[in-house]
Amino acid sequence: MDAIVLLKEDHKTVEALFKRFEKAGDRAHAEKRRLVDTITKELVTHAYIEEEVFYPEARAKVPETSDHVLESVEEHHVVVWMLSELKDLDPADERFDAKVTVLIENVRHHVEEEEKDWFPQVRAAMGRKELQELGERMDKARAAAPSEPLAVRSAKS
Ligand SMILES: [Fe+2]
Ligand SMILES: [Fe+2]
Repeated sequence: MDAIVLLKEDHKTVEALFKRFEKAGDRAHAEKRRLVDTITKELVTHAYIEEEVFYPEARAKVPETSDHVLESVEEHHVVVWMLSELKDLDPADERFDAKVTVLIENVRHHVEEEEKDWFPQVRAAMGRKELQELGERMDKARAAAPSEPLAVRSAKS
């Protein structure tokens, strides 16, 4: 699978979960806990394959997008720390929904920058075959993704 198609599919999966969270009622604590746990699993795996495979490869092949890579890592950093805080936060806590709302805003902004500004530059600079191979490597890397948000490389950046 093409690397950029694969990453965009992941973005869609996460966006669908965000919409479900936004539709959940104020008192749907158990549902919100489950949704945040699923969002965490999806986002940690996605951040991991991007940071371990896609970002370094894109930076090496399209060095003029290095600033995008560096900003993206900083954005991942904020997201994984928020996810680690949500893990131990009771969904009944008044800060829970506020924290998830800010997480969603951050991820949407990040995804928009990746898809609108950066991915097209990567696609233009890399060949179709290269992007296919990169997609296969990312798909394989999913199996090695950690479950702990702070185990992702950007947590330490
Ligand atoms: Fe990203
Ligand atoms: Fe992404």
